[in-house]
Amino acid sequence: MKRTAKVLLGIVIVMLVLGGMMFVGGSKEGGSALGAAVSESGFPVITHRPIVVGFSQIGSESEWRTANTASVQQSFKNDPDMQLIYSDAQQKQENQIQALRSFVARKVDVILFTALVETGYRPVLEEAKAAHIPVIMIDRDVAKEDRDLRLTIMGSNFVKEGEKSASWLADYMKKQGKDDGTKTINIVELQGTTGSAPAIDRYTGFRNIMKDHPNWKITRSQTGNFTSSEGKAVMEAFLKADKNIDVLYAHNDQMALGAIQAIKEAGLKPGKDIIIVSIDAVKGAFEAMVKGELNASIECNPLLGPQALQAVHDLADGKKLPERIWTIEAVFDQTNAAAALPTRQY
Ligand code: AHR
Repeated sequence: MKRTAKVLLGIVIVMLVLGGMMFVGGSKEGGSALGAAVSESGFPVITHRPIVVGFSQIGSESEWRTANTASVQQSFKNDPDMQLIYSDAQQKQENQIQALRSFVARKVDVILFTALVETGYRPVLEEAKAAHIPVIMIDRDVAKEDRDLRLTIMGSNFVKEGEKSASWLADYMKKQGKDDGTKTINIVELQGTTGSAPAIDRYTGFRNIMKDHPNWKITRSQTGNFTSSEGKAVMEAFLKADKNIDVLYAHNDQMALGAIQAIKEAGLKPGKDIIIVSIDAVKGAFEAMVKGELNASIECNPLLGPQALQAVHDLADGKKLPERIWTIEAVFDQTNAAAALPTRQY
């Protein structure tokens, strides 16, 4: 090789090495083969279109979940720059792990992920990280020790929801003259899916407020898996064991609606003989509040599609995403349910 050719080759090599330090990643479906510039979030800026997004959803256990899935699917469908690959895990963690692994193999640009339970995903999240694929959590997070492997989380503050449930209950019972702080208040609890973020946090939040009410006693607490059928079955068992129940605290409306059936079948009046407070504020809960069968529902907003879409756009544009994206929520009871019902979207 002639000397000038050697010098030119040397310059090209140096430029490639220096350039490579500013670029990461390999080629994506529809992406550039050279990789992309690194964004403020530490992931490649996405210049190609469509942006390929894999969404691993947990299943369709509740009205809430149906609304959540529809919101994400609709938002991405309406955006010509996006291509959403949807995967329904049908409440099985192994299905989710498989879906995440297939997203990594397909080299999607971004992963949206709702974790069925908090733990057990570390190896597959490490695979996503090694492939430079950002993971955005929707609704349910992974455990604290695994949060270094995901970029951000958008959704509700589940601890607050548990606290709001108990605070609402305290106010209501005080106003109704049902709790003067001396007599024992017997509470049964229908927990969500064992090991899931909302079940863990709603359990904790309620107990945070219970500390101020030493006469409140949780007499029974069991999972109803966030479903109406299991909520009903567990409530039937609670009532069979002991009818002396003042309050039902359900981690979601779906279980409360199932439990209402069980209470009626046991010859009791839901909302009167047993005060019921639950979480989500889905339409079915509003209808039950208007009928006087459910006392209160704490809102947990499932309409996360627009926020998820915005986050993917920001990421693609190289912007830094906040560590946590909260949703704004309200509390509804029999005093405001009828007025709000016509405007409810889910
Ligand atoms: O993760 C959110 C919870 O999951 C909702 O409260 C519940 O209805 C759903 O199944």
